Amino acid sequence: MKRIVVLLSGNGSNLQAIIDSINNGNINGRIVGVISNNIEAFGLKRAQKENINTITINHLDYENRQAFDDALLKKLAILAPDLIVLAGFMRILTSKITDYFNGKIINIHPSLLPLYPGLHTHQKVIDNNDEKHGISIHYVSSELDAGPLIAQGNFNVGEIKDKELLEEKIHKIEHLMLPLVIQYICIGTIYLDVKSNNVVFKNLDVINGSIQKNYEI
Ligand code: GAR
Repeated sequence: MKRIVVLLSGNGSNLQAIIDSINNGNINGRIVGVISNNIEAFGLKRAQKENINTITINHLDYENRQAFDDALLKKLAILAPDLIVLAGFMRILTSKITDYFNGKIINIHPSLLPLYPGLHTHQKVIDNNDEKHGISIHYVSSELDAGPLIAQGNFNVGEIKDKELLEEKIHKIEHLMLPLVIQYICIGTIYLDVKSNNVVFKNLDVINGSIQKNYEI
């Protein structure tokens, strides 16, 4: 069983999707810890309800990013994860963490990267009249919302000008794709070849080096 640690800052609906998949036997792994920088994060409650070990490291208690990452690294090292999932974790990690766990951290981001790293992705899609919107799952490097791409799920925006509606659709896709990618990683069907920094996919259909799915939602 792969040891999974989830890092989050908020609602934790993606954590819930992972928990549900584990409980349904669709992920061969277990969550050995949920860590949040936000003591108020609802995701912590979701974890506690499942008796999952939760840890809060309030970033406001630390002088700078490096000090916060030192504390985070200590906790992570004890948990000894095979896989760290950033599921709505709204902090930039320094290279101390991304180097230490190179090839073991994945992030989910609500845009079709490299479009719109950072915040307010739904608004940017509306402002730019984009035809498509979607989600990306990638291995994490020290650059914000960057690193080798694993999977993207997209949908046609059509006439939607409502941020909340876009977000709702994004969540639906995230909750389908993130557990699937985690399972592929847990069973070794997807991994990062750290020497070449390329994602390896065993017997999976990829387009230009990543899984690409279109959703009619
Ligand atoms: C998700 O949409 C995720 O893609 C996004 O935060 C949301 C968290 O939702 N992540 C980022 O923006 C990271 N740059 P959740 O707390 O309900 O899982």
